[in-house]
Amino acid sequence: MNQNNLNETEKAILVLSRTTAIIAIFFILVVGILVSLIIDTTDPLIKVVAANTETKVSPVDKTTETNSTTSTSTPEIPVDNSWIAPDDSTIPQGKEGDQIRYGKELVAHTANYLGPKGSVMQMSNGMNCQNCHNEGGSKPFAFNFAAVKSTYPQFKARSNTWVSIAGRINGCFQRSLNGAKLDTTSKEMIAMVAYMKWLGKDVAKGVKPKNAGIEKLAFLERAADPLKGKAVFVNSCVSCHGKNGEGLLAASGTEYTYPPLWGKGSYNDGAGLYRISNFAGFVKNNMPFGVNYQHPILNDEQSWDVAAFVNSQARPHKDQKADWKDLTKKPVDFPFGPYADKFSEKQHKYGPFKPIDKEQKLKSKKKV
Ligand code: HEC
Ligand code: HEC
Repeated sequence: MNQNNLNETEKAILVLSRTTAIIAIFFILVVGILVSLIIDTTDPLIKVVAANTETKVSPVDKTTETNSTTSTSTPEIPVDNSWIAPDDSTIPQGKEGDQIRYGKELVAHTANYLGPKGSVMQMSNGMNCQNCHNEGGSKPFAFNFAAVKSTYPQFKARSNTWVSIAGRINGCFQRSLNGAKLDTTSKEMIAMVAYMKWLGKDVAKGVKPKNAGIEKLAFLERAADPLKGKAVFVNSCVSCHGKNGEGLLAASGTEYTYPPLWGKGSYNDGAGLYRISNFAGFVKNNMPFGVNYQHPILNDEQSWDVAAFVNSQARPHKDQKADWKDLTKKPVDFPFGPYADKFSEKQHKYGPFKPIDKEQKLKSKKKV
């Protein structure tokens, strides 16, 4: 009886462990299949990143070898395809669609409508929004408009006010395009706002996709060096932007084939690009024209240095005394004093930024 019982229990345990083993194997199989499916779909991206690390040798690297030897390694951009601009074919028909299409045209060829020889009005310097907001503001890491609909109106420390999309567009008209404000009720402003809202229509309120705006480059240990930057400029930029950074007007004479980098026709010293972190982050993933974040040519160091060189050249001045009421909110690389810290204007312009950044972070920690 006892013996029998034991056998029964043994049998039961045997059956139980067999079923568990079978279930476990089945589970592992299913998980395995799922994982391989996921890896398969992201495969192209993984490949692109791998290719990217292999194609680091570039014309620039070869010609400025001294620069590359001290190069700080570029932190890998996390693989992220969270935002993809909607396809033009999905722009609706009718009046709403016409607005969006006109907005896109204005972003791409601003000067034809609003430049010095513009057909609608003459209120800006001849540059196009697209010169910086590449591909109509749809290109990853090229100051794209992915997060405009989702994050505006936005409180801006620069103006110490809430800023609407139209207000932000006027910020670029007055600074990047060194021009005047566009009437917020004009057909042109309404069209550009409609275009940006359409571009960001699939981004949830408050969300900033990882590939929005530009890549934030790690700070160098040293100050960015305009002299080293000049070498980068001569090697990699002169061919299009010209010896004096003057750019090249198109045959039409109304817009640029190659926009100016400094001088009378360029952005003024109140523009976002005049901060070298913005310039360096943009240039690394978008210049020389044709590169993208998956296949950059310049490394971080070359990008910081060329930013320092270009922004050490003469350009239009904007009175910015009314900006940055709260000095503690000035970005580390804001090139004009007064500051809430003891670092010089020169260090705020060219770096090294790490000590400034460290102090700012310490202070803001103490506040909370
Ligand atoms: C010379 C380069 C340049 C040009 C030209 C330019 N912008 Fe900008 N724009 C910038 C920079 C730099 C920023 C700031 C990015 C930041 O602060 O994160 C910016 C920011 C913006 C933003 C806010 C984006 C955001 O996500 O917060 C909008 C909207 C905008 N620009 C619209 C325009 C429009 C419209 C035009 C043409 C009338 C234009 N810009 C022309 C450089 C430029
Ligand atoms: C092959 C030609 C070419 C080369 C080389 C080139 N660029 Fe550009 N660059 C362009 C074009 C074209 C645009 C405008 C993009 C557009 O409108 O879509 C532009 C735009 C820019 C802009 C934003 C608009 C402006 O004028 O401020 C900056 C900044 C810039 N380039 C910097 C550089 C730097 C720095 C280099 C060298 C590392 C460089 N570029 C090399 C063609 C070039």
